[in-house]
Amino acid sequence: MKKTLLICMVTAALVCAFALPSLYAVDAPGDMVLKAPAGAKMTKSPVDFSHKGHAAVDCTKCHHNWDGKAAIKKCSNEGCHVDTSKKGKKKPDSFYSAFHAKADFSCVGCHKALKKAKEKTGPTKCGDCHPKKKK
Ligand code: HEC
Ligand code: HEC
Ligand code: HEC
Repeated sequence: MKKTLLICMVTAALVCAFALPSLYAVDAPGDMVLKAPAGAKMTKSPVDFSHKGHAAVDCTKCHHNWDGKAAIKKCSNEGCHVDTSKKGKKKPDSFYSAFHAKADFSCVGCHKALKKAKEKTGPTKCGDCHPKKKK
């Protein structure tokens, strides 16, 4: 029963996203390559991210602290996912959590939840987002 409810909720969210394309006045940027913030050591390859590929997802699902009006901040902005240490990885304010936490706002969290619900989803394996070979 829980699964059915989740599928209903995801479907409703997708319908809303399509029905209200101009809900926000801010435009999403084009294709991006995501990297760790300056000063942090990168152990994995940079990650390709497309806003277009996520047009069906509401902005505030990912920009989860955005009020829908102000300028959108980076994930590693002050007060947000600032901890880039290896030790702090599992903490909610870590840079790592922003993209891998078991939460709806994170890449891996959302993709895995959708996969479980048998919905259209994105990659969930390390190498699919962090390719081994340099492009
Ligand atoms: C699936 C997740 C996701 C969705 C949905 C999404 N974004 Fe983003 N957006 C990101 C990520 C990740 C970044 C890169 C953040 C960073 O560099 O720290 C980003 C960056 C941005 C930036 C640049 C911020 C900066 O200072 O570099 C803007 C502006 C933005 N998004 C607007 C939008 C708008 C408007 C929408 C809805 C139409 C939207 N986004 C939907 C994930 C998403
Ligand atoms: C709230 C849910 C959600 C979040 C958060 C999310 N995604 Fe996705 N992602 C999706 C869905 C849904 C699809 C499938 C879209 C489709 O096929 O129509 C997808 C597809 C993708 C794809 C394959 C299609 C494409 O755009 O190339 C990639 C790659 C991807 N996501 C990367 C990311 C990365 C990187 C992040 C984090 C910065 C992220 N996603 C965050 C829901 C999400
Ligand atoms: C859906 C895409 C996605 C998947 C799957 C994914 N990551 Fe990431 N990861 C990201 C994004 C986006 C960032 C932030 C940008 C960056 O630092 O490259 C990131 C950053 C990182 C970082 C911090 C930066 C660095 O280079 O050291 C580590 C460590 C990391 N990921 C490890 C992993 C591991 C291990 C796995 C598999 C268990 C994994 N990731 C799976 C998207 C993903």
